[in-house]
Amino acid sequence: MKRKTVAWILLGALASAGGAWGARAALTFNNTVTGEVLNLDDAVEEGRDTAAVKTFLDSGINSYNENPACLPKGEEIFLTACSGCHGHLGEGKIGPGLNDDYWTYPKNETDKGLFETIYGGAQGQMGPQYSVLPLDEMLLAMAWTRHLYKGDPKKAKWLTEEQRKVFKPYSADNKQPTDIAANGECG
Ligand code: HEC
Repeated sequence: MKRKTVAWILLGALASAGGAWGARAALTFNNTVTGEVLNLDDAVEEGRDTAAVKTFLDSGINSYNENPACLPKGEEIFLTACSGCHGHLGEGKIGPGLNDDYWTYPKNETDKGLFETIYGGAQGQMGPQYSVLPLDEMLLAMAWTRHLYKGDPKKAKWLTEEQRKVFKPYSADNKQPTDIAANGECG
């Protein structure tokens, strides 16, 4: 075998062994401010291979949304990773409110956009979370962020049509969705 050929085979093996994980995603994700393509290989190893992450990277659909078995975990992560800046109900603090339908970056009204903002960051204090939060935890925090929504359910683009019909704007006594059957274990 020629040396050059051997080199190419070695390179190919390297590419498929490491680095290529993110290439499995069907969608391309872009930085919210610069539009630059986000490198999914930067994500921490933990929590990359859950069914929810796979679904999300291929479709932009967050299967944790309004899943009563998953929302408590989402709340926990939100309270650790987001509420210090966005308020414990997402009402806004040093970061903008996340519980209404006004967005500095309009793409955050979709879950793909919301993920891009969390993963890749925005301006100032909104640093990228890719090295901090596992992908699966980002999806859980996103589901809780959406659950805190106080606006008109008709504008909740992230919900399925079925979910939109039963979604109730968040209030303290409507913490859990009561009219969606519990799925048992999350994930
Ligand atoms: C250290 C403080 C800080 C933390 C922690 C933080 N954020 Fe932010 N966030 C900000 C600031 C400040 C902005 C405004 C940035 C801008 O306008 O570019 C922002 C912007 C955002 C936006 C864009 C809102 C819009 O109106 O378009 C979203 C969505 C968001 N953050 C979600 C989150 C989530 C979810 C978490 C937890 C995983 C989180 N942030 C953690 C400070 C923070």
